[in-house]
Amino acid sequence: MDRDSEYLDDPALPVDALARTLREQAWVNRRLGGGAATWGHALPWLRARSGVPTTLLEIGCGGADLTRRLVDAARRSGTPLHAVALDSSPGVLAYARQWCRAYPEITLVRGNAWALPFPPAAFDLVLLPTVLHHLPPDAVPAALAEAWRCCRGLLIVADVCRCPVAAWAFPLLGCLVGFGAVTRHDGRASLRRALTPAALARAAAQAGLPAPQVVRHAGCRMTLLARVGP
Ligand SMILES: C[S@@+](CC[C@H](N)C(=O)[O-])C[C@H]1O[C@@H](n2cnc3c(N)ncnc32)[C@H](O)[C@@H]1O
Repeated sequence: MDRDSEYLDDPALPVDALARTLREQAWVNRRLGGGAATWGHALPWLRARSGVPTTLLEIGCGGADLTRRLVDAARRSGTPLHAVALDSSPGVLAYARQWCRAYPEITLVRGNAWALPFPPAAFDLVLLPTVLHHLPPDAVPAALAEAWRCCRGLLIVADVCRCPVAAWAFPLLGCLVGFGAVTRHDGRASLRRALTPAALARAAAQAGLPAPQVVRHAGCRMTLLARVGP
């Protein structure tokens, strides 16, 4: 594996290493700001719709911990939420399916971020979290355009920001908190390959998103928000 590719994108990754990596990804979401860059924006939006039937799409869902957290919040506020969690990897989806057993609100779908199998404006809330740096650079505008095409409310795109210093430090931090070799390698590759906030804004403009807004978060994270309508 070269230093800029990720084991998570390798179909030959053994299943036990895949399960461990997805669990560690969920830990990173809870503790290292990965989730906050998404649910920090999604939860207030969902709260404001309390009681209104809502549809959600997460593109590149991994173990679907972000979607499950949003379903939990919708249950608490009495908001009927139907969620679709999509990923391109059958191995990843097999774990997401196990972990979503208690969530009949979530449908898991195999698909590709730059060719989504949904009609236009099919979802109120569309999430594209920590996926863009997995794509070939020339597919990024296409993936943003697809996410936007399927959205009729709020689009939230979150990712790590490119940061060579954090890329150097991540494997050390990973050793301290006990991450496996896959997460230590993939975390460093992500921080090396990710877009900068300016490059994300340019890709969004190329994808035709109107007035996209890029917000920076702690922990080398960024979020792009785009709303349909005023
Ligand atoms: C780092 S994980 C992010 C998981 C989850 N969204 C999160 O933030 O915790 C990236 C996910 O994107 C998926 N992925 C990579 N390329 C994809 C593509 N072209 N279409 C859909 N999913 C893709 C991977 O299989 C992986 O599960």
